Amino acid sequence: MRNGDFAVNNRFLRACRREPVDRVPVWFMRQAGRYDPEYRHIRETYTLLDICREPELCARVTRMPVDKLGVDAAILFSDIMVPVGAMGMSFSLQEHVGPVMERPLRTEEDIASLRVFEPEEELPFVLETIRHLANTLPVPLIGFAGGPFTLASYMVEGGPSRDYVHTKVLMLARPDLWGRLMSKLSQAMARYLRAQVQAGASAVQIFDSWVGSLSVHAFRAHVKPYIQAMLADLAQLGVPLIYFGVHTGELLADFAEAGATVVGVDWRTPLDRARQRVGTSVALQGNLDPVSLFAPPDVLRREVETVLWLGTESPGYIFNLGHGVKPTTDLAQLQRVVEWVHTFEPKAQTAHCTKEERA
Ligand code: CP3
Repeated sequence: MRNGDFAVNNRFLRACRREPVDRVPVWFMRQAGRYDPEYRHIRETYTLLDICREPELCARVTRMPVDKLGVDAAILFSDIMVPVGAMGMSFSLQEHVGPVMERPLRTEEDIASLRVFEPEEELPFVLETIRHLANTLPVPLIGFAGGPFTLASYMVEGGPSRDYVHTKVLMLARPDLWGRLMSKLSQAMARYLRAQVQAGASAVQIFDSWVGSLSVHAFRAHVKPYIQAMLADLAQLGVPLIYFGVHTGELLADFAEAGATVVGVDWRTPLDRARQRVGTSVALQGNLDPVSLFAPPDVLRREVETVLWLGTESPGYIFNLGHGVKPTTDLAQLQRVVEWVHTFEPKAQTAHCTKEERA
């Protein structure tokens, strides 16, 4: 595979397809961000949304972790809220808080007024950034969008929430309205992800970060059908489709069944247990506890190796954290993790260690 004139490192895509790899591939959710002094410096002049709207700068920020950390994939620098603006809802991203809506979405009229937008018209800067990156990056580019439940939670609550009361009550008490909201969000995000792939993204990840707040039966009744439709639509593109959320141990089998080709796992569920749940027809991605990056290097190394041993028990594994890099993480710790993942010998390790020895 080549991007422009560059030979592209494709071990990430090979692992997504469960093909043999020379090294375990690694990237980090939130790999561009405040842990990097250069990013903080850029943020003194530009807001996060300014960066997203400036293709050259956005491409530079997307690329920074590839050069500094040596990761095997880049993830588009953007935010799950960017397309929410294009659907017609105003919001701000508040430091140390997260997305805050100008007015929460609560009524039938609010839902009716949401636009399933045309990405080329409303978010041309995102696609321009991707086109620029696809020709210059030495690794594959991951496009992304928020999952419908997670986006709905910000829209309906009006901001971050602990228990999602308004969102869940809308879902349970007005399934008709909830269905309309989920249809619009899943259609808009499928269209947005399709445009990202057409612009040059080699894989896409759906961040449904907060979907694990649902019971299994609520997920099946009120969210899964829309994820399934989204994934079926995107499957025609032939690129890896990663679906991720936190606290989703009990939902992992449903994620695979819904059509994800790579299932993201948070740190609470050991990867061998995740594998039992999803079967062998999908790849797994995860799941180092992001807080272990604050431990001394020798302790961190043991944590990384435990994850690697469990992850490489079966083909189709991408090393990642169980959630995003925390803003105060030491960059050197991330560099060490990449080096340890890349020097890990999966076959030798699995041949020489029993499961008990690894525990
Ligand atoms: O992974 C990457 O490097 C790509 C960039 C990326 C951002 N947001 C940039 C960002 C990605 C993939 C996201 C996804 C995102 N945004 C999610 C899903 C992933 C997850 O962490 O669960 C969610 C829930 C959001 C909403 C959001 N945006 C939150 C909760 C915050 C953090 C608030 C804070 O200040 O701590 C944001 C802001 C945001 N998006 C930052 C970054 C780098 C924070 C730093 C900044 O303002 O520059």
